[in-house]
Amino acid sequence: MLLRWFILLLIYRYLFVLAKNINYDSQHQVPILPPKTVAPGYTVQEELVKHYENGLEIPLKIQLDQSVYGKPIHELIVYVDYETKDRIHVKIVDKDHQQPIVPDSPMGVPRPSVLPVYTRNYEFQYTSTPSFGFQVVRKLDDHILFDTTDTSLVFEDQYLELTTHVPEEANIYGFGETTAPFRRTHNTTAMFTTGPHTPYGANVYGHHPFYIEIREGKAHGAMLLNAHGTDVVLDKGSITWKTIGGILDFYIFIPRDTEPDSVIRSYTDVIGNPVMPALWTLGWHQCRYGLKNVTEVEQVLDQYKEHQIPLETMWLDIDYMDQWKSFTLDPINYPKDKIIDLRNRLHQNDQHLVTILEPAFGAYPDYSAYRYGQELDIFMKNPDGSEYQGLVWPGYTAFTDSWHPNAPTFWNKQVGDWMQEIQPDGVWLDMNEPYSHCLGSCGTGRPAEEGIPLMQRPNNERETKEEHDERKKVLDEMVRMYSKDTRNLLYPGYKIHNYFGDLSEQTVAMSTLHHGDIPHYDLHSLYGHAQVYLVYQALLNHNKTERPFILTRSSFAGTGKYASHWTGDISSVWSSLRSSIPGILNFQLFGIPQTGADICGFLDEATEELCTRWHALGAFYPFARNHVARTSKPHYPYNWESTAEATRRALAIRYTLIPYLYTLFEEAHSTGLGPWRPLIFRFRKQEALLDNDRQVLIGDSLLLSPVLDQGTTTVDAQFPMGQVWYDWYTNALDVDTTQSSEVVTKTLDAPLEHIPLHIRGGSILPLKTTPHLVLKETIATPYTFLIALDQKGTASGTLFIDDGHTIEPELTTYYKLEFKDGKLEATGGFDYPNPEPLSTIKVLGKQVNDWSHATYDSTNFSLSKQQGIVVLENINIPLKKEFTIQFY
Ligand code: NOJ
Repeated sequence: MLLRWFILLLIYRYLFVLAKNINYDSQHQVPILPPKTVAPGYTVQEELVKHYENGLEIPLKIQLDQSVYGKPIHELIVYVDYETKDRIHVKIVDKDHQQPIVPDSPMGVPRPSVLPVYTRNYEFQYTSTPSFGFQVVRKLDDHILFDTTDTSLVFEDQYLELTTHVPEEANIYGFGETTAPFRRTHNTTAMFTTGPHTPYGANVYGHHPFYIEIREGKAHGAMLLNAHGTDVVLDKGSITWKTIGGILDFYIFIPRDTEPDSVIRSYTDVIGNPVMPALWTLGWHQCRYGLKNVTEVEQVLDQYKEHQIPLETMWLDIDYMDQWKSFTLDPINYPKDKIIDLRNRLHQNDQHLVTILEPAFGAYPDYSAYRYGQELDIFMKNPDGSEYQGLVWPGYTAFTDSWHPNAPTFWNKQVGDWMQEIQPDGVWLDMNEPYSHCLGSCGTGRPAEEGIPLMQRPNNERETKEEHDERKKVLDEMVRMYSKDTRNLLYPGYKIHNYFGDLSEQTVAMSTLHHGDIPHYDLHSLYGHAQVYLVYQALLNHNKTERPFILTRSSFAGTGKYASHWTGDISSVWSSLRSSIPGILNFQLFGIPQTGADICGFLDEATEELCTRWHALGAFYPFARNHVARTSKPHYPYNWESTAEATRRALAIRYTLIPYLYTLFEEAHSTGLGPWRPLIFRFRKQEALLDNDRQVLIGDSLLLSPVLDQGTTTVDAQFPMGQVWYDWYTNALDVDTTQSSEVVTKTLDAPLEHIPLHIRGGSILPLKTTPHLVLKETIATPYTFLIALDQKGTASGTLFIDDGHTIEPELTTYYKLEFKDGKLEATGGFDYPNPEPLSTIKVLGKQVNDWSHATYDSTNFSLSKQQGIVVLENINIPLKKEFTIQFY
């Protein structure tokens, strides 16, 4: 027996050594899978298992006291809670509760309160042989959806591992933030917030430990609520989580209808539903890093006007700051009076202004925000108690600690004063992973003047190799001398696939202390999330009635409750145009639906063709902003004639669709389901769609098929079975798949300035058909309902109306629209006091050819007609009541 254990031990050791070496496929830099860990696991203390009506408690004991990468924890408890009928919570914790956990809401993630459930869609079962493992089974079809049996459970202070079996070719979506195809194929994804320029497959700004699997046409999902650096290994037949701290806190989502959308709804029930955006944020945004002064900003506004391109919001990047310090203004290039004039000009034209802010503050004794932070003691500390100072734009910088009890006071005052003084309409939170350009506390103890701002360094130079090596020594020494934490915070035994290598590279060192001596190691991926929360509260405190608008780079599960997101520093290349679609689709899963990508890319130089195609697609992003780096040539939509034309055309559609889009965002806010939807999530049984991340459904009614390749003027678009699809531009029936036994692929014409768009038969779209250059004017025009009939002659839709900006408005209108047997029925609740009237109804479908009239309110109207289209004009129905219209 002993000999057997000894041999096994040797084999494990060998495998662990192998597992620690990360290999890269040299061509693509995609990590090659490390072998799976084999560890003896835990036994169940059967006599101590407790069964409750809504769950159970399973005590575990380690089988062999042997380290894999950290210090093994001997006794664990598995808490199983049947939380709702479609959600089970399986939490594996150390018996002594010493492991750090994700803090509760608001700085972490809310744990929803639960009522006992008496029916549920799943069963839980566990096994003790050869070691503890569990299964979650869907009752509907007895599929085992989560299965850790026959795999290793490792639970150490700095290494936790759990594997679940999935089919060989599993259809997995989620896990991020990273740049990758929407359906995830086999590789390792690290989750740890960091800020490189979005290399393929690398961990970037957000940490979202959630996935959805579609198995045999049915969906379920799971989240590991853990904010420590984590690798997710997708292998043939398994998913393995490897995390370097915390506990194993799984939420598993098993909706009975097996719809992917229901999985998302169930997930956002746990992490919080997305914020309701103000209507103006759905308009077109323009930004540029490198605008030298207010005059240059104004030139952009002039050009937009001259080219008659809609512009809703102008953004100011760090250029406006005095020496790149947040809450200051460059006195020469962006003096206060000029900024105020700029803001007034924008507001007079019903446009908006957004300004950028950073979480790190230049460590200059005469800088008031820094001094105030010091006074309140809200900056992070080195283990010896000194102030941690990294390197960001202004030079040496101190990092705010959102967990300090004075942090709300700091942000309330700073943000409050800023809003009072400058009155921007929203704030942009950047570099909040947090990002730092030097290793360790490179500024501590050095004179502030030495911390030369990045932009003033020769060649923008960040850190030389010698400096880096020296700083590494200093950091190591600081930890060795002063850290009270017994864990290896800088170099944990298991090295996750962090893009920058060691965890403290290009960020705040892991040993840096937050309030209560909590090392950054335990809170790193929550840093941006917590800052977003405090800034959101500060904006609310400043103005209790307006919806705050925040755009954040870093995010964690639940950040969507407060903020929107963009996918960061992508390049102006065709592959970035393509990957913007999966990038945005991922955030529809992660509960941050108002996400976009820098239109035309941020780095490098865009060509006219790329930029034209990108504007056509970008005009449909949930968040639509053109932005570019200081070092690249600007790529405004008016820079090229074809780009200007494509932008005007596509934005005219976006603004026409505004009531539909706004209704979709309200749906996201109340249910969690975002406006961009992958085809496979709507048609989950149509396997040909599993990999389609080149087309997008906007809501359930519109199918967008952009050109994503250079030199192409057609798109091979997929059309799901069982539907009729109308061309947006001609309103003609274009594709009928009602009789098809497979997904239909059709080659669509897409000359340079055109983006193919189809309406799904069965939809009612509320529209504003006279789009203006700003949304306020667009929304002030009458409504049109566009009714596209399915093959049975039916259609449905919704319309939400409120004032577009107050937080939790009391007076809202919600219409449920149903069309059947030639009759439109509009029902709902109608409290919004002054909606624009409904002036026009257009119905598409072969059924309409027999109609010539319509009756509304006992009055007959004649219809204007074309083949397959009827239009009822000038009816002016006040949208304040139920109504019906009969067509005949
Ligand atoms: C990095 C951000 O990702 C980018 O959008 C911004 O322009 C620069 N920081 C400068 O603020």
